[in-house]
Amino acid sequence: MKQRPKYSYPIDEVIQKRWSPRAFAPTALTDEQVFTLLEAARWAASCMNTQPWRFIWAHNDGSEKYQKLLSCLMEGNHAWAKDAPVLILGLIHLPKEGGFCNQWAMYDLGLAIGNLTAQASVMDLYVHNMAGFSEEKVRELFEIGEDLKPVIMLTVGQPGDASTLNEFNRQREQKTQERKPLEELILG
Ligand SMILES: Cc1cc2nc3c(=O)[nH]c(=O)nc-3n(C[C@H](O)[C@H](O)[C@H](O)COP(=O)(O)O)c2cc1C
Repeated sequence: MKQRPKYSYPIDEVIQKRWSPRAFAPTALTDEQVFTLLEAARWAASCMNTQPWRFIWAHNDGSEKYQKLLSCLMEGNHAWAKDAPVLILGLIHLPKEGGFCNQWAMYDLGLAIGNLTAQASVMDLYVHNMAGFSEEKVRELFEIGEDLKPVIMLTVGQPGDASTLNEFNRQREQKTQERKPLEELILG
């Protein structure tokens, strides 16, 4: 069990328990579980309800889609993410006529992933965000047009055995989460 940090105020257990594992248990998720996470994402707030979030996902089942997603990860992420049961790519839809709201699409996707992550926590699942992937490769392999922008990749699953990780990642895995003090975040 990962050591929990000290909280300044008593936040809910669902938020407390969240962290970003690199070692995942080999337990597969069901389609029902994945769609429940995506359903939570669907109900996020967005600029004028434009809902710009889009997703491409796959179980770790050796399928072509899964291999394509995995191959887009940078080496450092690939090293551990290859053992996670699910990979999700988050994109934003930026239509030419999107106007004012296009500039908030990344924010909207963040809210959607926030919902997904909270739902995962309720279901005893854990999410690890990864910016370390090749946007160019995603565009090429999934034939992504100019109206879409790949933003983030996620692994989802249950925490696993840290001894399966390399030394560098094992140390990161065991570190207690750290944050800036609340006073530093509140300005004015
Ligand atoms: C936008 C974003 C990009 C991230 N990219 C990576 C990444 O490429 N590789 C990685 O191992 N972790 C990545 N992370 C995870 C962060 O390093 C992690 O959330 C942070 O260190 C805090 O740890 P915690 O989530 O366990 O509290 C990313 C997180 C976010 C939100």
